[in-house]
Amino acid sequence: MPGSDAAPASSVSGASVASDASDAPDTSRALDASAAADASAELDTSPASDASDAAGMTETAPPPTCTISPQSATVVINCEGQFAFDGRAAECGLAQSFGGAQCTALCPPFNSMVADYCTLDDGPPSTLSCDYPDTCGPMGTGRRPRGLRRIKAKGDRSLSRYLSETTHLEAASVFAFARLARELTAHGAPVRLRDRALAAARDEERHARVVGALATERGGVIARVRVETGRTRTLRAIAIENAVEGCVHESFGAAVAVVQAQTAADPAVRTAYRRIARDELRHAELAWDVARWLDTRLTSADRARVLRARRRAATACLASSGREPEREMVETLGVPAARVARAIALELAATVWAHA
Ligand SMILES: [Fe+2]
Ligand SMILES: [Fe+2]
Repeated sequence: MPGSDAAPASSVSGASVASDASDAPDTSRALDASAAADASAELDTSPASDASDAAGMTETAPPPTCTISPQSATVVINCEGQFAFDGRAAECGLAQSFGGAQCTALCPPFNSMVADYCTLDDGPPSTLSCDYPDTCGPMGTGRRPRGLRRIKAKGDRSLSRYLSETTHLEAASVFAFARLARELTAHGAPVRLRDRALAAARDEERHARVVGALATERGGVIARVRVETGRTRTLRAIAIENAVEGCVHESFGAAVAVVQAQTAADPAVRTAYRRIARDELRHAELAWDVARWLDTRLTSADRARVLRARRRAATACLASSGREPEREMVETLGVPAARVARAIALELAATVWAHA
């Protein structure tokens, strides 16, 4: 059962952990769950039914439908949607992580995008996470934790909204690094990697405070971070998340921070992002070091899956880096204009992301 994470970020302004789904925002209009329910009806669920029949069980509960529950709370942060799922991986003939047609059939479209990667956490209740490919916005995304709930920043100015959303992502990264440290320990990783992950969590706490101050000075309202967590994941699941959120997204986010440190018209923003950029570059390095250690523990088939996930994330980042931010964000905050963000993504794709 998903539970509350430990509270590494309890001192972070605006950060907290939710342990039940009742306070999820109503995002049902953003994600048309019924579409997925219809599409997923094509999934073959016969193995589970056969097993029940063979065992001569007297049914006391309806069999799983192996679909998302259309009425379930749906949450999206950036481009990950989460849904209650009726069934477990084995009985539905699904892997814990999968892409392709199965994922596309199960996940409803979001902003005209189809999900390209799915992760199924067995329950009860089971949760299906759908990743949509539009992942690198003008702000970069940093390292998002699994189970992070969507927020919609309030405010009538793009600057305060941007800073509020960035603060939310910075605070959310605390949970991502805390979980990474915990899971690395559980899997016997070198202590040095765990310590670097914990240090990164502390960096992110500081980022959340600093950017949060910039946001509130401009009237921004900081949303609480809510993260649902689960059990320690497999090395493969950790590696895929690290490849996407660390190797790709944190590398991109670090480069965005460098641009902000150099070009923001607001001197307070330049000062804040000088430190943040240094930290984020270190976080990107950590992601690659974690990836190298994980590679020594994975099968060749799993390493190939991780590589595919990283390439998909890089391709998605390239595709979405061309969105033009508002002029005020470019000038005051130094957020890279679309042509700059595109150049960053192309450079990363040709160098860092291409790294085998
Ligand atoms: Fe950060
Ligand atoms: Fe970071």
